[in-house]
Amino acid sequence: MNYKTIKDIDIFNKNILIRVDINVPKVDERITDYTRITALLPTINYVIENGGKPILISHCGRPKGTYVASLSLLLLVSALEQVFERKVVFIDSDYHKRLATVNIGEIVLLENLRFDPREEKNDIYFAKELANLGDVYVNEAFSCSHRSHSSIDALARLLPKCAGFSFVTEINALNRIFNKPKLPLTALIGGSKISTKLELLNSLILKVDHLIIGGGMANTFLAAQGLEIGTSISEPSMLKIAKSILDKSARAGCKIHLPVDVIVADNIKVGKSETFRFDKCPKTKMILDAGPDTIKNIKSIVYLTKTLIWNGPLGAFETKPYDKATNSVALAVAERTNSGKLISVAGGGDTVSALSTTGSAENFSYLSTAGGAFLSWLEGKPLPGITALEDYH
Ligand code: 3PG
Repeated sequence: MNYKTIKDIDIFNKNILIRVDINVPKVDERITDYTRITALLPTINYVIENGGKPILISHCGRPKGTYVASLSLLLLVSALEQVFERKVVFIDSDYHKRLATVNIGEIVLLENLRFDPREEKNDIYFAKELANLGDVYVNEAFSCSHRSHSSIDALARLLPKCAGFSFVTEINALNRIFNKPKLPLTALIGGSKISTKLELLNSLILKVDHLIIGGGMANTFLAAQGLEIGTSISEPSMLKIAKSILDKSARAGCKIHLPVDVIVADNIKVGKSETFRFDKCPKTKMILDAGPDTIKNIKSIVYLTKTLIWNGPLGAFETKPYDKATNSVALAVAERTNSGKLISVAGGGDTVSALSTTGSAENFSYLSTAGGAFLSWLEGKPLPGITALEDYH
């Protein structure tokens, strides 16, 4: 990687535009995970301690270029003040005038970038308006660096630019783990849709020794082999593609592992849960989790694995008892990692929150809070946010 970090840039007496990702998970307006906020502390403190004025810019949600009150960053001011233990000044008009009144040691927060339709279009004029407010650009949002948006790409080309501390930590950790992974390398990919992870699956079968498929997407793979999956969620339009992934993996020497037994019920809310062999799912039932023999199989692969990548839950983990496969495999991964026998990396919002509920998350070698950016990274795609920092033309 060939980019500057914040330590390579003079920030004294300068306005430092920091692209952060405070698109944090919330339930009823309450923040449920502060990881993305606390991760900003080192960079913000460094800027202030070295005489700079931090101006935070971020998106929140997907407002589609228009003002949505519930997605205003104004709502995050008090949470940010609590974590940063500093005054946060929210500015959404009269920018230059109000910026001039901000005191040393205070942090500026601008309004949700995605309220402006130009942000997602990577519009150069929007980037110029932002650039006018700062002297230096810092990308501290690895989790948004897969987006070619104004605040990630165009803006980085207009000012002296560098990466923040957590951005660097994330990239270094991922590089260390993936550049020369200890083999065997296993990927555990769950979640509901093949369509959103198609490129990932196609790229992983060329790289990993074992690919464990769980969650709703496993149903599509079972159906692709002509098996009954009852009323389970699946993607009928992806059956051919699932079949071709199975064929390609065999040629590439990657062993795909699908459930050998499944937990089913009438639906997620109703009905007693029962266990069936993978090829005996009743027509009227819905698959909601992997069964005990599948858990045993996955654990045996975990025991022979040296590096494990995990994205996506193995079942409908938000609803008990369908969190069993995810929890029990997570505990096995944590235990192997703890005893130094496994390097484990998990990424994606859902994944991290699924692992956190078992208390196993902190025992993983590395947890990435990035969702889409983590997946793009795994696919081996260049990330626009990194390219823009490296590009000096
Ligand atoms: C994320 O939560 O993964 C990032 O904030 C990016 O959000 P996006 O998928 O809406 O671009």
